Parts: sequence; C-alpha cells; structure tokens
Amino acid sequence: MMIHRPRRNRKSQVIRDLVEETNLSVKDLIFPLFLIEGKNKKSEVKSMPGIYRWSTDLLLKEIDQCMRLGIKTFCLFPNISDSLKNKTASESWNKNGLYLKSLREIKKKFPEAVLMTDVAMDPYSSDGHDGYVENGEILNDETLEILGRMALAQAECGADILGPSDMMDGRVAYLRDMLDEARFTQVSIMSYTAKYASAFYGPFRDALDSAPKFGDKKTYQMNPANSKEALIEAELDTLEGADFLMVKPALSYLDIIKTLSDNSHLPIAAYNVSGEYAMVKAAAAKGWVDGTKIMNEMLLSIRRAGAKIILTYFAKEFALQKNK
Ligand code: PBG
Repeated sequence: MMIHRPRRNRKSQVIRDLVEETNLSVKDLIFPLFLIEGKNKKSEVKSMPGIYRWSTDLLLKEIDQCMRLGIKTFCLFPNISDSLKNKTASESWNKNGLYLKSLREIKKKFPEAVLMTDVAMDPYSSDGHDGYVENGEILNDETLEILGRMALAQAECGADILGPSDMMDGRVAYLRDMLDEARFTQVSIMSYTAKYASAFYGPFRDALDSAPKFGDKKTYQMNPANSKEALIEAELDTLEGADFLMVKPALSYLDIIKTLSDNSHLPIAAYNVSGEYAMVKAAAAKGWVDGTKIMNEMLLSIRRAGAKIILTYFAKEFALQKNK
C-alpha cells in the first residue's frame, strides 16, 4: 500500500495546470531597449543576436509592435558617441541630446507606455564608470549631485520610473528628495538594490561601448560571494523610499531574489542580463539546446524565486510565442 503518490497530481495537463504554483505573464516583463543617433538605423548587438540599437524613428515602431503584443514597460539605454563623453557625464542632462529627446518623443506618441530610465553615469562617462572619478577613485557624494541632475532632467521628459543602476550610497534618498522638491512626487524609483560586480554584463557593455577604461566596478557593485549584504542594501533602499527593489543578474542570484522576496514587502524585480541572454542564444544557434524552452524555463524560475517583475531581452520573443 502506498498512501502518498505525488504522481497523481501530475497525471494530466488539466491537473498539472490546477496545481501549478507560478505563472508568468507578458505583464510581468520590462523590455530593455538600446538607442542610437541617426535616422532609419538599426544595428544588431553582435553578442546579443536579435537585439538591436535603434534610432528614435525606428524605436517608435518597435515600441508600437511591442505594445500590441502586450509589453507596456520599457527600460531605455543610450549608446552615446565617444566625442560626447566626459568626466561629469554632462550629456546626460542635455535636453537636446539623444536620450532626453527620444524620451519626450516616445512619451508623446505612447502616453500609456511606462518608461523606465537609467540613472547612472557610465553611458556618458569618458572613464566608463558609474561614478565621478578623481585620481582613480570613484567618489560617492560628488556622483550623487550628477545623478540628481540627470534624474530631474529625465523626470521633466516624462520618465515614469527612475532606475538608479550605479550602486552609490544614499542615492535613493537623494533622488527621492530632489524629485519631491521639484513636485515629481509620482515618479517612481526602482532601485538596483543588489547589483553584483558580474561578468554577465559583457554584452551590454558591447552594446553601449561603455566598458570601464580602467579597473573594475568592485568598489561599488557587490561581491558575488555575499548575500547578507543584499539585506543591508534592501533595508537602506526601503528606508530611503524605493518603490521596487531589484536583483541583478538574475540566474546566478536566484537565492538573493528569494531572500529579498522573503524579507521585503516591496515588489521585487530581477534583471535577466545580457550575458544570460547571450549564452542561451549561442547554445541554441549551435543546436545544443532548445532556445525557446530554455527561455521559458529560465523566466519561470526567476518568477518562482520571488521576482514579480523581470527585465529581460527575451520580452518580445516571449510575447510573440504567447500570442501565437
Ligand atoms: C550600468 C549598467 C549595466 C547594466 C545595466 N546598467 C552594466 C554595468 O554595470 O557595467 C547591465 C545590463 C545587462 O548586462 O544586461 N549602469
């Protein structure tokens, strides 16, 4: 006699659906998009097959397609020409620069889309770092002032969610304060709370030509060996007024997603980063794995670990497959 037969709950698709604990919907996804200068331009990121840098005119068409597929939230990153980069990242608050101009255009054409912006210096920094550099050191408080200017300019152009991705101390409080002072009380902050110093960002740095010119990011991004530190960051971001907490990367950090989700009442997001995307694409191209099934399993595992929201380069592919 066997009283317990767990296989009974797996005996048909309908039963399996009944007991299914985790769901993944297009509504949970945020699609990161890359921008470039010019007109009618679309250039594929070599290390990210299927992912492009778009000129604004074409980006508007891409967003239109995505909206029809049910993707409503986008996270934007600019590829800035080297000649516009400097030590203070001043291009980041240039109202007529690529990023802010596109932001206004997208918001005008798609008022119902939710636009998340990136608040960090690296796309605009001649040092390729997320903070202000002096004598080879990344200075924290000097960086906050620059981030504040950038954030305010983005809010003025219609950003719905600001994504500080720089890992400087005190940035959430600093930005919240500035936003509120300027009456942007409805602009949200999704903090990159536990962002690790990871090799999985390689393809993203190719996309933006934003690799650090010297050293690495280990004095601000977290050590992959640590998980308790993520709780410190989460506590601070929560006290400072973050609306969402993010873990990045996702797949090698599912335990961190779970830890934050168990310890916080805020919605948890996870960033399924460029290197995670690239590895699936490379293996699928060789015929070594089924790319679509791997994508679905990966995204599901991130949800199961406790992320309500997933930023992923797979967003459109996932939506296309769902809409079939
Ligand atoms: C930097 C930033 C990075 C990513 C998003 N914002 C890279 C880095 O920290 O060097 C990586 C995203 C990805 O790999 O998909 N502010």
